[in-house]
Amino acid sequence: MTTLPATTLAAVAQQLTGGGRGILAADESIKTMSARLEQEGIPASATTRRDYRELLLTADGLAEWISGIILCDETFGQDLADGRAFPVAARELGILPGIKVDTGTTGLPGQGGALVTEGLDGLGARLASYAERGAAFAKWRAVFDVRSITPYAAHANGHALARYAALCQQHGIVPIVEPEVLCTGDHDLDASAQATRLALRSVFAALDAAGVDLSGIVLKPNFVTPGLDAAPASVDDVVGATFMVLRETVPTAVPGIAFLSGGQPTEQVCRYLADLTLLAGRPWAVTFSFGRALVSAALHTWAGQAEVGAAQQVLLDNCRSAAEATR
Ligand code: 13P
Repeated sequence: MTTLPATTLAAVAQQLTGGGRGILAADESIKTMSARLEQEGIPASATTRRDYRELLLTADGLAEWISGIILCDETFGQDLADGRAFPVAARELGILPGIKVDTGTTGLPGQGGALVTEGLDGLGARLASYAERGAAFAKWRAVFDVRSITPYAAHANGHALARYAALCQQHGIVPIVEPEVLCTGDHDLDASAQATRLALRSVFAALDAAGVDLSGIVLKPNFVTPGLDAAPASVDDVVGATFMVLRETVPTAVPGIAFLSGGQPTEQVCRYLADLTLLAGRPWAVTFSFGRALVSAALHTWAGQAEVGAAQQVLLDNCRSAAEATR
């Protein structure tokens, strides 16, 4: 088993979230990625999923904006056209490779539709293998719906996140701890704040109980926003509510926070990030770990063609916008 000193975990967490760069989430499951390819008229296969991820990783100069890329198991084990394994190529390009290790969600009986994320069985052995193949960090995503979050669901997901995070650190891998409160629904800003507060409180209580070294994690939360079907809130209100909840719940020992986009428009999430970056008295680095906000337009532009330059430029433009929002 690889055991790296905590200073190394802390250094990796800082490298991922500081320095005006962010994380590219390219770890959609085979099912989700296949659906997104097919939506664009691209036949889904291991080859097209690989080609698409190669397009993303090899965009010229990506490392200027991107500190780490999250891959799924399939891509992590694939090679680029030039024969280099994805995690090896990422490191050579100046980007830390990460791996999504949860196996998805299942319903919690008796909890009114609330979900818990699975994947702990055998996780230690999987992490050892990923570490050997170059993984610098990992991701585990818990999912909460404002309408169905319960204290027990928050506790169960916090417990799973904490066991995952402790195992990652044991294997020298920085855990991205992601409790996502979904933005789907018609709830207001306050309901999102309450759900996010509950989720984050449970997560940090569990991380503490599990003995996780907070200096060697990255937190990946949602912005606190009203539901997509509710009246929108102003940027100031979203940024204010997000900062308030984070300040109440996230210990200052956490080096960096990397927000998910939740599928919200690129310009909007970059605006939230830019305003959060400017807030005085912020104890953690803030950056992005966006998926759709960075890649959706690039996937659309690519459309499965041999020519990838235009799609790569779209990706680079979005990554630059997000990175500049943190500078
Ligand atoms: P989105 O930015 O598309 O929400 O994806 C980020 C992510 O990795 C969710 O787990």
